[in-house]
Amino acid sequence: MANEIRIPLNKPYIAGNELAYIREAVDRGQLAGDGWFSQRCHELLEAQTGAVRVLLTPSCTAALEMASMLCGLGPGDEVILPSYTFVSTANAFVREGASPVFVDIRPDTMNLDEAAIEAAITEHTRAIFPVHYAGVACEMDAINEIANAHGLVVVEDAAQAVGSRYRDKPLGSLGQLAAFSFHETKNFICGEGGALVVNDAQYLERAEILRDKGTDRQRFFRGETDKYTWQDVGSSYVASELCAAFLYAQLEKLDEIVARRSEIADRYSDALRGLAEKERLRLPVVPPHCETNAHIYSIVLSDEATRDALMQHLREHGILAVFHYVPLHTSPMGMQLCDGAPPKLPVTEDLAGRVLRLPFYPQLTADEQGEVIERIHDFFARAGR
Ligand SMILES: Cc1ncc(COP(=O)(O)O)c(C=O)c1O
Repeated sequence: MANEIRIPLNKPYIAGNELAYIREAVDRGQLAGDGWFSQRCHELLEAQTGAVRVLLTPSCTAALEMASMLCGLGPGDEVILPSYTFVSTANAFVREGASPVFVDIRPDTMNLDEAAIEAAITEHTRAIFPVHYAGVACEMDAINEIANAHGLVVVEDAAQAVGSRYRDKPLGSLGQLAAFSFHETKNFICGEGGALVVNDAQYLERAEILRDKGTDRQRFFRGETDKYTWQDVGSSYVASELCAAFLYAQLEKLDEIVARRSEIADRYSDALRGLAEKERLRLPVVPPHCETNAHIYSIVLSDEATRDALMQHLREHGILAVFHYVPLHTSPMGMQLCDGAPPKLPVTEDLAGRVLRLPFYPQLTADEQGEVIERIHDFFARAGR
């Protein structure tokens, strides 16, 4: 029987004002969406990113779906993305009929390898969906340069990257469109939630329509039309005001939350550096021109068997460490989309078998973190590894 988990991978963090703001939203009498708290979140995220507009959505998945529709992706179109990502990055445009073209990742940040993109471009390529893994930026200058040279749209999957920066520019501000996640596993949360970031004004009007069931209700609310009607094929992509109220309590503490997470990440790195120097494991890589929001703390082991053994060792001591992702090109759906002949992505396949995420959340106590660190050290000491 598996030991009881005492130190989980993640715990939703409560910043303080969540319940008071939900009560305030109830008292204000508008619960559906785009009310007072939604507007506060929009303004805060627009100030943070410098975007033309940020619109809360029920999830990052929903925001990525909207982005795919806004780009007009459809059958015959190809989209470049990493295989090492969550399924939503691909699902968003595959459901529109477009095809994924999986490109390998960089060995250091585990982000889309910008040097491998050109070779994947064909006459059918329409977009690039870079994913900022663990809140560390992709090489956006190079990616945007390639996109501009080939007339491609860039949609940042910034699900994990709210508050991170690349060459002092906020992530989410570097593609024409971007998507954020506020799922309970992220840094800033509201249960389930997300946002579409519109950086290119040409997408704004249609974004508002797609988000509001395909109607021009936003124009009606602004008094720009005397009735609202069906304009386009949209869906229900407005986030609940109750989620926005919860989220605002988190976003107003954005800096504090990142600072606390960074403190925990630094302690892991300091405590594990000796093992890294002995090449027992690799610490997360954050290039000097990238400022991270400290979203995930993952180490890379020397091989898959060692990774699995360490994971098991931690579990036996009530500590949950996990791996992710199963590369999309090796998944049943990915194989089907690649006609049973998936590309060879050696870096993705190698690293996906060696990565291990450690427990990482603001409430992790010094004692708990000390225990995780101690167990990692005794794993290597006892096994004579
Ligand atoms: C890279 C990436 N993209 C998309 C998503 C989907 O986010 P959501 O759960 O808000 O739909 C996630 C969530 O884990 C993610 O990590």
